Amino acid sequence: MGLGEQLQSADWKAEKHVPVIDCPDVVKADQIFKVELSVGKEIAHPNSVEHHIRWIALYFHPDGDKFTYQVGLFEFNAHGESVKGVDQGPVYTHHAVTAQMQVNQPGTLHSMSLCNIHGLWEDSRKIAVE
Ligand SMILES: [Fe+2]
Repeated sequence: MGLGEQLQSADWKAEKHVPVIDCPDVVKADQIFKVELSVGKEIAHPNSVEHHIRWIALYFHPDGDKFTYQVGLFEFNAHGESVKGVDQGPVYTHHAVTAQMQVNQPGTLHSMSLCNIHGLWEDSRKIAVE
């Protein structure tokens, strides 16, 4: 079974693992815009040593292109670890990030997230260029 067949997707309003992409539907060519990535937008995902989101990756696939380009990889590294014990630590990274990027042609943004126990999840969003 290929990796692609293991990527799970669902309606983000009903599933806490989907890496939701928030960005403009239309952007200007070569102008920086913001892309917000979040997991558990409507239904919170846990953030503990036992159960957390490790990272979200963002990719751009230009329309008609053979290849997909990686935009960024955003890691969330604090989940309550401490010498005092599991989930006794002083810091937790929330699993959301705002990236900034620009494109010169229309295409599709693809997001992928990893939950440490529930595997890989994906979402996508078209962006037009004016
Ligand atoms: Fe999970």
